[in-house]
Amino acid sequence: MRSQTYGDYLALDELLSLQRTRSDGPEHDEMLFIVIHQVYELWFKQVLHELDYLREQLDAGSAPRALATLNRVLTILKTLVGQIDILETMTPLDFLSFRDRLESASGFESYQFREFEFALGLKKAAVVDRFPAGSAGHENLARRLHEPSVWLQFLRYLAARGLDVPAAALERDVTLATEADEGVQKLLISMYRDHMALMQLCERLVDLDEGLQEWRYRHVKMVERTIGRKPGTGGSAGTSRWCSARSVPSRARGVRKAPSTSRPRCSRQSFLISGRFAPRSDPRGFDDFVVRVSCPDRRRPWR
Ligand code: HEM
Repeated sequence: MRSQTYGDYLALDELLSLQRTRSDGPEHDEMLFIVIHQVYELWFKQVLHELDYLREQLDAGSAPRALATLNRVLTILKTLVGQIDILETMTPLDFLSFRDRLESASGFESYQFREFEFALGLKKAAVVDRFPAGSAGHENLARRLHEPSVWLQFLRYLAARGLDVPAAALERDVTLATEADEGVQKLLISMYRDHMALMQLCERLVDLDEGLQEWRYRHVKMVERTIGRKPGTGGSAGTSRWCSARSVPSRARGVRKAPSTSRPRCSRQSFLISGRFAPRSDPRGFDDFVVRVSCPDRRRPWR
């Protein structure tokens, strides 16, 4: 019997037959466009796999494994952000040469990206019905809608360690998006003060939130340079409205926009807490933490 080969194990022939360009010619850059989206989807798959494991480890009370898993997710996220550099080697003209072949298809329809948001706590029941009943997107999102988010699992983990997590936060309907909770805010401050090990886990969750915002920010800037103010293929008004470039924080210029109710998508948070719960002053210096956790525009390098 023939022994297993590299190609068999990875289903390589199948995998490499999936980059089906549609433009006449075909246009050279359409291959890059397809490959990069497929690579993103594969990484999304791995991230979801890791986030499921992270929840399991938190449930089992294993902080070292949870931390190692979070570090892996953060490393993948860095790659996700870094890959945008490759896409930016494609000029607007290159993109326009095949753009009409996308018709109305858009990354906006990536169900794995929505699963990622759901897993982190950014849930919205209506999103499930954007995908036809019976499709993988519909089924996966419907399941994740009813599962605890990573954030809720983290709160449960803290409660199991004897921390005073407000019952309302623990018993909240899991199908709803994570909301600010003053009791949780106070708990986090005391945790940062007295529980260094738990603080490490929380810091990595903040990194994860910040990493996803970083991806959104880089994606918007890439979209802006590729299609300018043109409408998106998914029907949005493109960067002019979908993600007002003016309200995107510019690290280079150090501009910070006050949080508003119409926050651009790129600064949308998946976990965390509203700035209105930040104490006015704290003699022990925890203001900085609260503001950092509350305000997406206050950036720092994430690991
Ligand atoms: C030339 C490259 C790209 C352009 C011009 C572009 C453009 C856009 C635009 C205009 C939107 C808003 C919805 C719409 O009207 O279509 C959008 C959303 C989105 N795109 Fe891209 N995109 C590009 C590459 C990518 C890649 C490589 C990914 C990776 C999967 C991606 C993932 C997404 C996601 C997840 C959304 C929804 C974001 C949200 O709702 O916050 N895009 N894109």
